[in-house]
Amino acid sequence: MTDVASILFTQEAADRPHETYARIRSECPVSREVGWVGGDGHTVYVSRYEDVMWALRHPEVFSSAPGAVNVGQEHPLIPLQVDPPEHAKYRRMLDPEFSPARMKALEPDVRALVNQLVDGFAERGTCDFHEEFATPLPSAIFLRLMGMSQDDLPQFLQWRDDTIRPDTDDMEEARRIRDRVGGEIQAYFDRALDEKAANPDGGLMSRIAVGEVDGRPLTRGEQLGMCHLLMLGGLDTVTATLDCMIAYLATHTDRRQALLDDPTLLDAVVEELLRTETPVVMVPRIIAQDATIGGVEVKAGDTAVILIGAADTDGDEFPDAESVDLAREKNRHVAFGAGPHRCLGSHLARMELRVAIEEFHKRIPEYRIQDDVELHFSPAIRQAVDLRLEW
Ligand code: HEM
Repeated sequence: MTDVASILFTQEAADRPHETYARIRSECPVSREVGWVGGDGHTVYVSRYEDVMWALRHPEVFSSAPGAVNVGQEHPLIPLQVDPPEHAKYRRMLDPEFSPARMKALEPDVRALVNQLVDGFAERGTCDFHEEFATPLPSAIFLRLMGMSQDDLPQFLQWRDDTIRPDTDDMEEARRIRDRVGGEIQAYFDRALDEKAANPDGGLMSRIAVGEVDGRPLTRGEQLGMCHLLMLGGLDTVTATLDCMIAYLATHTDRRQALLDDPTLLDAVVEELLRTETPVVMVPRIIAQDATIGGVEVKAGDTAVILIGAADTDGDEFPDAESVDLAREKNRHVAFGAGPHRCLGSHLARMELRVAIEEFHKRIPEYRIQDDVELHFSPAIRQAVDLRLEW
């Protein structure tokens, strides 16, 4: 029987995930294996759309409690690491901050910033897309939204990389790096929250600093857990998604030409590429009670890995699932997750992606990946390692 861990956590799977997903879905759609993510314990992998949906919608079995993921945090990441019913009170507080209307109001700023970034390289005929566009765009917007100084960006990016892709193959060393960085992030936000409470501005961090749930002020631990999570969610995911989308469009010129010929396809391009690329490949859980899923018995205490990337290319849900079909009618993809923990930032992310793709192509309609680039992606959250373009 296939050992999912041995084929999933490989460079090949990060670079060409569809083949790996297809193999997992057909050979071991639900798999319970010793070790890997769960140390000496068991890890459960879920890959078919139907089972993934079930897992995401049953937090009483697939819990998001703090043990599911360790990024060096001292306090639970809120709302990600809180299960229902507690979870809802935090979403009630945060959802309005990321509502479609609020995000629409940010759109002109995003459009201006996209053009400013393109101004920096359009004439040159080349760019390092990851460094010069995909990284600064969502980061600058996020810092503005939070009310944080743009000067802190290099520090944040370093913390983000040390947390999500620590520069070591040794699991113990990676844990030490995450713990150290987690402490530094916490100390930063502890100071910043004091400052914002004393001198509130229009930013989200000021509102967190004086925020309430259930008619009581948030504790400092809750505030820190929120800021830490928002930083990780806000800085990494849109960058990775932009990399995946532009890498695809650079190498599939027929789809890019279709968009250039008919700009009304923009939404379809964004949604189909979110689905087929699914940049956040997997989400972690802890099994909270014994259960049977896909005919496999899972046990309380097991670690679980829900493969949303595999679900998004499952032919039982999406006909011709691996193709980017710009006329697809039903696209209930799970690139933003599903169930209670469905992405808080999805309206922000979609707006940024649409505006970025639209404006970039108005200015630079034809481009290719430079000849000496070997296209590789990082695992788990798929950023391009090198995405230098030319036109
Ligand atoms: C294209 C970009 C993005 C993708 C693909 C993405 C993906 C996801 C996924 C898959 C989840 C579910 C996690 C789980 O079930 O364990 C999630 C949750 C979350 N995301 Fe995003 N995300 C994106 C952008 C953002 C942005 C820009 C922010 C914030 C500024 C954000 C903040 C969050 C938060 C706070 C949660 C936890 C929600 C909860 O637990 O209730 N995300 N995201």
